[in-house]
Formats: sequence, C-alpha cells, structure tokens
Amino acid sequence: MRLIFYLCGDNPELSGGEVVFLLKEGLLKSFRLINQFLIADVEDEKKVLELAKRLSFTHEVCKLLGECRDLEEAERLLEKLEVEEGTRACVRVEKVGEVSVNRKSPELERRFGKVLKSKGCTIDLSSPETMVKVYVSSQGIFAGELLESFRARETMERGKKPFSTSFALPPRLAKALVNLASAKQNLLDPMCGTGTILVEASLMGVKACGVEAFEKVIRGCKKNLEYFGVSCSIVKGDVCELPFRDESFEAVATNFPYLKSAKKYGGKTFFREALEEICRVLQKGKRCSMVLSFDAEELLEEFFVVERKFEQRVHKSLSRRIYVCRKKA
Ligand SMILES: C[S@@+](CC[C@H](N)C(=O)[O-])C[C@H]1O[C@@H](n2cnc3c(N)ncnc32)[C@H](O)[C@@H]1O
Repeated sequence: MRLIFYLCGDNPELSGGEVVFLLKEGLLKSFRLINQFLIADVEDEKKVLELAKRLSFTHEVCKLLGECRDLEEAERLLEKLEVEEGTRACVRVEKVGEVSVNRKSPELERRFGKVLKSKGCTIDLSSPETMVKVYVSSQGIFAGELLESFRARETMERGKKPFSTSFALPPRLAKALVNLASAKQNLLDPMCGTGTILVEASLMGVKACGVEAFEKVIRGCKKNLEYFGVSCSIVKGDVCELPFRDESFEAVATNFPYLKSAKKYGGKTFFREALEEICRVLQKGKRCSMVLSFDAEELLEEFFVVERKFEQRVHKSLSRRIYVCRKKA
C-alpha cells in the first residue's frame, strides 16, 4: 500500500526521518521525501497506522490516490477513490507552502466535490465517513484518502510538569527521539534529567528506564513521572559506568549535557566514556538517538554506524545535532 505522510514544516528532514526510523525493519519497503510529504510503500497497513499514532512531527496520513501537476489531472485522480454509493464524503484542499494556484480552497473543494458526487457520494462537510485530501504544493498536487489526522493533538500542550529545568527537552522532540531510535519494547535514557524522554516512551507503551547522576534531579524526575501517571525504573548512576549487563536494551534515546558543561560532569573523556557504555548496553544491530550540542560524527563512528544527522536551531548560539546511530551487528 502506498501512503502519504503530510509532515510538519519546521524541519521536514527530521519529520520524515521520524517516520522512516519508526517503520524501518519490516514495514517500510521504499520511500521518497518531497519537502513536506513522505510517500511510502508499506507492508501491513494496520500495524503501520497503529504505530503512526506515535508520530510527533506528522500532521496527517493518507492512502495515496496519486500525484499530478494540474487541477484537471487531480480530478482524474479523485475518480480512483474506491467508495460505496451513498457514502458521506467530502474533499478538503490544503495549500502547502508557496503555491501558484490562485483559486481559493473552498472553490477547489466544490469542484473536486462534484467528482465524489458523480461517484454516488453524499457530500457531508461536518461528519464525513470518507475525507479526501488534496494537497496543493509547489512540488506537485497529491491526493489521498485521509486515514489519520493528528492536528487536534498538536495544539494540545502536555500539562506543565512539576519539575522543570532549563535543559529539559521539548516533549515533541523527546517523542521523536523515541521513534528515531525505533524503540518498540524497551528503552534506556542514561542521562534522564527531568524524565521527558521516559514520559513520552512510557505513554507510547515502551518500557522505559532512566539513569541520572544527581539525587535532586532524580527526585524531580520521579515527581514528573507520577504527575503523568507513568512508572519507570530510575537508577542513580553514572552514564560512564552503567549498572546494566551488556546488550540489555533494544533502544537508547538521550540528550547529552552541553559541551561546555562536560568538564563539570567528567572532563574531556566524558563523551567517549559515555558512548562506550551506551554502546555496550545496546543490543547488536539496534539504534540509539542522541542529541549533542556539537558535531560528533568522528567520535560516534568509533562505536556506531552513524545513520543520520539532523540539525535543529534553538537560538543564535545553539543548534542541536540529532544523531541516529546503529550498533554494528
Ligand atoms: C541535557 S540534560 C537531560 C535532559 C532531559 N532529557 C530532560 O528532558 O530533562 C543531561 C542530564 O544528564 C545528567 N548527567 C550529567 N552527567 C551525568 C552522568 N555522568 N551520568 C548520568 N547523568 C548525568 C544531568 O544531571 C542532566 O540531568
């Protein structure tokens, strides 16, 4: 089945990467990233849609009807919709980015709606059983049958947590890190801080475990976990000497302290020692996603295969490097 993922526009590379690493190994046959759209051939649609509910940086998922360059062709694409007579249906047009089509969306929706009518559908804008999306973008026009929309959820903030610090990750990025690490069963955050990654993983049904060096932070983290109603094991410890057997975890997701704080945490060798330990406790062939504040390819390659790097600008003097690494099999 061919799906189209309509991605958040802030960082389409990262948004697309999240989908790819979540579905890799078994479900994703091939994919193409076209700016804010990821077109993917997938296996086991039911499982894919179940997993897609975890995505952080995707607006919508549709079954792709096709792609084209102009409105006439788009009408023909809509004719491909498989739908029973009498189905309550509607078309929603969304202009994505800068587009040259100057007709207003409602006008286009009426035009495309006529195609659905001709197929025997009843047009219902308020509670349709089938919604057809037509995305009009400078990269082309994409039409699909809407399967999942995460729009309502995007505007909802997680409640303000009881314990917060300046280094805590935004929850949406924490969620994406869990997906980038392809975590399905269990995950370790060896520098868990306020527990943002642990909360997001647990809410997805992934068994999460945290390590943190400082007692005060652990106390705060536990308050946060309680606040979100999730339970994880948190261990006081050192990322450079993790209290776990080799290959204990299916996935690791974490964000490192800033480079300039490394001295405080363990001097020059901190990053190397931490990576060696993370690699030791990760199962062979499995992934870790890590946020660092500096370019670390060379260092990471001493331990892992670096599969992807994404950058996310935070402010003038801080840019997050988000790495997806795999332990050699
Ligand atoms: C960037 S913060 C992580 C923030 C976390 N992801 C969150 O959202 O709250 C890094 C964390 O690593 C912890 N830390 C520093 N050195 C450590 C060490 N050697 N072992 C374990 N944790 C350490 C710090 O106390 C801090 O909480």
